[in-house]
Amino acid sequence: MYSWLNINLANTFMPVEGTELAGNVDNLYIFLLISSLISFIILIGGMTAFIVKYKRRSANDKTAYITHNNLLEFLWSFIPFVIMMVIFYWGKLIYDDYRTPPENAEEIHVTGRQWVWRFTYKNGYAFSTKPANAAMLNVPLNRPIKLVMTSGDVLHSFFIPGFRNKQDVVPGRYTYLWFKATKLGQFQVFCTEYCGLEHSNMPATVNVMPEAEYDTWVRAYVPEASGGGLADKGKEIFTERGCTACHSVNGTRIVGPTMKGLSGSKREFADGSSAVADDAYLRESILNSGAKIVKDYPAAMPIFKGQIEEEDVSALIDYIKSLK
Ligand code: CUA
Repeated sequence: MYSWLNINLANTFMPVEGTELAGNVDNLYIFLLISSLISFIILIGGMTAFIVKYKRRSANDKTAYITHNNLLEFLWSFIPFVIMMVIFYWGKLIYDDYRTPPENAEEIHVTGRQWVWRFTYKNGYAFSTKPANAAMLNVPLNRPIKLVMTSGDVLHSFFIPGFRNKQDVVPGRYTYLWFKATKLGQFQVFCTEYCGLEHSNMPATVNVMPEAEYDTWVRAYVPEASGGGLADKGKEIFTERGCTACHSVNGTRIVGPTMKGLSGSKREFADGSSAVADDAYLRESILNSGAKIVKDYPAAMPIFKGQIEEEDVSALIDYIKSLK
């Protein structure tokens, strides 16, 4: 976006830029640094020069009587204002880009736990960063990836310095982080929210692979061999937990609402409010069904909070999303 501002100064004291966003963040950072430096020189340099120049030299020195200067006062207010607005708008552009995952982004689930990360791919392949330390979060080059993250215990935070993005991983909700890697190689991940004794020992590695290599790698974990994709696992849980007794998957009404076409639809509730059935809504409805009762349906569903693993909730949501 800002290729016209081709300053690579940042790379001399910052991690390698692994995304386009990283370049944009660094450019803004350099702008802040240089404008601060110029302000510093004008302000402190001017002050020092005036101290020396207008030093009181004898007891008879008189101070000139100056009340104000309209032009000067206007300029030293207006110029900083313009600079601040540039910084604000520039920051907003980057922030919007950073917070808005592209529609076609490939989702990978991330679960944080004391003190391990677990990654689950769409095809059901899942692994943790411990005890197998060598396991890496493989991602394709030049393709948007959206991490759907939650925590199984306390607050964690997922930080990829090389990508210049960071997001808290919060128990009880989903947070998102997206990136499009533009450089091959490995990028360090840190947990950046103090989460207990081994907080500093909660690293992970993002491994950016050429697209073709990634596709081969991801396809090597065929659903049949690994016991099904994430949605397939969700389907199993859906049956195992007896959800089928109250929820159909073909549109017919049993006790509760059907799961068909649920995801992304508008839900109307008994109290007159409404919401769109996004991931957070589905998660809440699975764990704490009493929170939002769908209009014209009984509040009959048991509470699953504490009864079901985060990974299983993710699988259920994926399954529900697949029922178009
Ligand atoms: Cu997890 Cu700090």
